Amino acid sequence: MTLEAIKWGGRKLTILDQLLLPLKEEYIDVTSVEDGWVAINKMQVRGAPAIAIVGCLSLATELAHGRYSNASEVVSLVLQKLKYLVTARPTAVNMETAAKKLTSFTKNLKNEGKSAEEIVEEVIGWCEKLLEDDVTTNVKIGKLGAAAVLNHIAGGRKARLLTHCNTGSLATAGYGTALGVVRALQEAGRLEHVYCTETRPYNQGSRLTAFELVAEGLPGTLICDSAAAALMKEKGIDAVIVGVDRVAGNWDTANKIGTYQLAVVAKHHGIPFFVCSPTTSIDQTLSGGADIPIEERSHKEITDVAGTRIAAPGIACWNPGFDITPADLITGGVVTETEVIVPPSATLSKA
Ligand code: MRU
Repeated sequence: MTLEAIKWGGRKLTILDQLLLPLKEEYIDVTSVEDGWVAINKMQVRGAPAIAIVGCLSLATELAHGRYSNASEVVSLVLQKLKYLVTARPTAVNMETAAKKLTSFTKNLKNEGKSAEEIVEEVIGWCEKLLEDDVTTNVKIGKLGAAAVLNHIAGGRKARLLTHCNTGSLATAGYGTALGVVRALQEAGRLEHVYCTETRPYNQGSRLTAFELVAEGLPGTLICDSAAAALMKEKGIDAVIVGVDRVAGNWDTANKIGTYQLAVVAKHHGIPFFVCSPTTSIDQTLSGGADIPIEERSHKEITDVAGTRIAAPGIACWNPGFDITPADLITGGVVTETEVIVPPSATLSKA
């Protein structure tokens, strides 16, 4: 069984409302760019690749159901809507990457003298391809990542992994990135066990990754974020494997808050640390992690559980949604759909 977070058919877009998982599986219609922006901003869809796909398909469905008098009208609408979609969440770069590519694609169509109808059709096709290509990309990441993990394991033994946040079918068009590697190892008969962190404060691990592991029959165990160091010491973890929201030009990586501390602890234990990154998540315009914008989220995510306040009234909170893992801690490598790159500064020897 493969979970489908994004459904596209008959030029209609529906998405699984991830705010309700794992207790309810409910799909919602996304009929416009405004709906897409809200779904991304409220995190009904989340995960870097899924954000870009839903953003673009929300544009595709709006375009498909509109009427346009000339090519200039369509082009300026597309450009304006893409600019808006990029503002929904700041850290993941995938929507920005897609917007840049689709903007120049659309401008070229106009320069080639295409009609309004032709531009609408080609832009819709471009967005549909983003959905198709993501699964292909993830399967490639899965294969390359599985081979890279197994390179660190002697004697044909099965892999014991730790992952963070959610990087599976719910965060992508399907298969997943880091969870794609887990899947590829399982398909190859080389997965012993995967541990997932609950991923406080938003619980993408306990609500979403755990849901995927159970739904797909993968051998998994949930741990508290604070159990990670003990797990690495006591359970013979072979690799830590995570996704990314944005990779800077020097391989510093933004991912869900808590990723950095896992990389530090992995280094201490001599455990290879992998980040799985489609090339669309690599932002060559930034020279280092310090330039990546980090989303700060509501204090309620820390102070409240299921709508009930549990933190002491009056306490101040700091709630960054992401952190930066420096390149030198990415000791296993950055796994893209084409290659595994170990940053030159990363060495696996114990700290
Ligand atoms: O806040 P979220 O749930 O959108 O954060 C998601 C992550 O940090 C994922 O690890 C990342 O986007 C990669 S998803 C393949």
